[in-house]
Amino acid sequence: MPNKSWEVGFHLRSPRNWLNDPNGLCQYRGTYRFFYQYDHDWPTVDQKAWGQFSSPDLVHWTYEGVPIEPSIDEDRHGVFSGCSYVERGAAPDGGDLMRVYYTGNVVAPVPGHSPKDFDYVYAGREGNTITATSEDGVHFGPKQVLLRNSDYPEECSCHVRDPKVWDQDGKRRMLLGARHKDTRGMCLLFESDNGIDWTFSHAINSEYAFGYVWECPNIVQLDGHEYLAISPQGLPRLRDRWFNRWTPGYFELEDGQKVIETEVIDERTFQQWDFGHDFYAPQTFVDDSGRSILVGWMGTFDEYYTSVPDGLEWWHCMTVPRVLTRRADGHILQNPIPELKELRGAGKPFDEGDEITMQGRLADIVLTDITGEGVLTFDASFQVFYGDGRLGIRYLDKDAAAGRKDRSIPLKELHDLRILVDGSAVEIYANEGAEVFASRWFCPERPNLKVSSSFEASGTAYPMENTMADMYEDAASKAPDLKMPGWNETIAR
Ligand code: FRU
Repeated sequence: MPNKSWEVGFHLRSPRNWLNDPNGLCQYRGTYRFFYQYDHDWPTVDQKAWGQFSSPDLVHWTYEGVPIEPSIDEDRHGVFSGCSYVERGAAPDGGDLMRVYYTGNVVAPVPGHSPKDFDYVYAGREGNTITATSEDGVHFGPKQVLLRNSDYPEECSCHVRDPKVWDQDGKRRMLLGARHKDTRGMCLLFESDNGIDWTFSHAINSEYAFGYVWECPNIVQLDGHEYLAISPQGLPRLRDRWFNRWTPGYFELEDGQKVIETEVIDERTFQQWDFGHDFYAPQTFVDDSGRSILVGWMGTFDEYYTSVPDGLEWWHCMTVPRVLTRRADGHILQNPIPELKELRGAGKPFDEGDEITMQGRLADIVLTDITGEGVLTFDASFQVFYGDGRLGIRYLDKDAAAGRKDRSIPLKELHDLRILVDGSAVEIYANEGAEVFASRWFCPERPNLKVSSSFEASGTAYPMENTMADMYEDAASKAPDLKMPGWNETIAR
């Protein structure tokens, strides 16, 4: 039986079964709408669809079912990742129209040939760019195919996907992630006057090959500076970075440089978003108040560890929404949306040497004015440490790691830490969000979380309200039958 303490109470997860990338993040007619890659037959059939949650405030969520599923030839093997674009005043009622752009995945060996004749990289795959609109954010009109592989440049392999659309300098712009025929990651830029007819503008390549494919591109614009964010696959695992099989991050452009004018990018500016075990394919969007917000898939396709030990009935979750801001040196700071503080109960102060028992297992722990090395220990099972110039996480109990290994990054000084513990999801924010880790911890089954600290710092631990339990229970009762595989059957694609 899955351990009840693994339940998350303020992170989004699929009510049942599989979840990967966040998709179509937006605030539409005042309501936040978050879609996600959903697959209820995973891994028997790889056929992704878009599930959805909505929220008035980013902390109270409603499950909206699966609004977009494969239904046409061009998306018959999956409604893959994509974005939302809000067309101001374009709906028949004079209000805003929601338009989604996504990739229709087709695994398409040519009839009459053996499927074994195709490698599905250079032949036998389609990545169609498709759009559909909605006036309520949940019900969508007919799908329209905008781009097919024949519309992408010759130099691309069949792997082209994950449209990101925005307006800039009087035109609508589209970024697509791709794999060059030479087996290296790249992006494509298209432009349009109406969001329907698109013209290829140019490709964005790194100076030297940087991974074999770039997925899920995003543009981030902060204080007049631009960043190109990507999820590259194929970076080597190094001692101090790129620990996961795949590592998303962003390239920092030079002052005044625009993504839409960039053809060659300096891959040495690449900064990793998150150093945790469970983080991939993040998506960013700008909400009505102008904040740039990032949500990451708190999961990964990793061959070494699992996210469904002991028959847990749901696979992965999302990070909490993170507000992005620019530090003076250009580095992007990520911090949980301030709205999350509404879920805090009464804070308990705790000092060096204290051990406190929280009410429940959902916690927001804040340490400020840290003066040196120290360790935070959770249930004698999981630790966050700073020592010998390194910040890291340690699993004391190997079952709780479910295959994850301890890891750390070099850090000259540590000033502050904020740790969100939500059942089996842990997010660690250090130095005002300059360094972040998102990792799963399959904690012991106990009603209350125990935390002790050896840091000399000013500490407060807040219990957090569970805003998800009723919603998940209700949604799971409506979801299709489970077909969860066992421990070792994780994810081969
Ligand atoms: C990233 C990704 C995307 C794709 C989607 C399919 O995790 O591979 O490139 O659209 O997942 O689920």
